[in-house]
Amino acid sequence: MDIRLMRPSDIPLVQHANLENLPENYQLKYYLYHALSWPQLSYVAVDVSRPKKTPYDQPKIVGYVLAKMEEEPTDGVPHGHITSLSVMRTHRRLGIAEKLMRQSQLAMVETFGAHYVSLHVRVSNKAAIHLYQNTLGFDREKTELKYYADGEDAYCMKLDLSSIREKLREELEEEKKEERKKKKAEGDDEGGYEDEGEPVGDVGRDPDAKKDEDKKVKVKVGRALGVGELVERVESTRIEQ
Ligand SMILES: CC(C)(COP(=O)(O)OP(=O)(O)OC[C@H]1O[C@@H](n2cnc3c(N)ncnc32)[C@H](O)[C@@H]1OP(=O)(O)O)[C@@H](O)C(=O)NCCC(=O)NCCS
Repeated sequence: MDIRLMRPSDIPLVQHANLENLPENYQLKYYLYHALSWPQLSYVAVDVSRPKKTPYDQPKIVGYVLAKMEEEPTDGVPHGHITSLSVMRTHRRLGIAEKLMRQSQLAMVETFGAHYVSLHVRVSNKAAIHLYQNTLGFDREKTELKYYADGEDAYCMKLDLSSIREKLREELEEEKKEERKKKKAEGDDEGGYEDEGEPVGDVGRDPDAKKDEDKKVKVKVGRALGVGELVERVESTRIEQ
């Protein structure tokens, strides 16, 4: 199983999976809006082990998470939102939904600095509630009455992402430390100072090097190189044979 970012070309198959698994369906342009606005946040699970019937057979998409950032958060806190999640019946209870959700959560923090992620779930959806609450640690914020078109209520759920933020910060600190250690071990000829970039102006530069740079050399391009003649000559040799 391969968990990878959703590409615009996956959208028809993602839409197919959504139609198979959920009563909440969307127009193609809504998927495209997610893929183009937040290309880092939506993932698909691809069954790469499935044998190809023809060379043009695409690997099957067996699960997806469609996610976005809230564009105008009412609380002013940057946060993500899960628009849709589903896994094909044939591939359920293998940990696919959990992996898709964790990947998306990580990307929300890494790319957009999200503080939390929210979602809605039908109050009768036992499988999804178990996944969100027990496996991933979401909290039930409130119940939205008659949220769904058929009149069913929704739980509005929220997961705080500060543990991911903290972990990422620690990893970054660790990387910086390693980088500093490596520089020191390599001789540290800058005396502990960071490289300030390219030199500006000619002060302190070797005057001969400058002369070499300025020297313009004439080069042949295209037919002047004789490539065309060469090809024609080879062709004619073949004909003569
Ligand atoms: C909900 C859904 C996405 C779960 O996908 P999945 O890949 O089977 O889930 P996972 O294998 O990652 O399981 C995650 C956890 O949920 C539990 N779980 C999965 N299906 C369950 C079920 N039918 N009943 C109870 N628990 C279930 C797993 O045991 C696992 O728990 P654990 O961490 O305690 O072991 C899938 O059932 C589905 O697509 N349902 C239809 C669409 C849907 O309801 N989407 C959610 C809309 S909000």
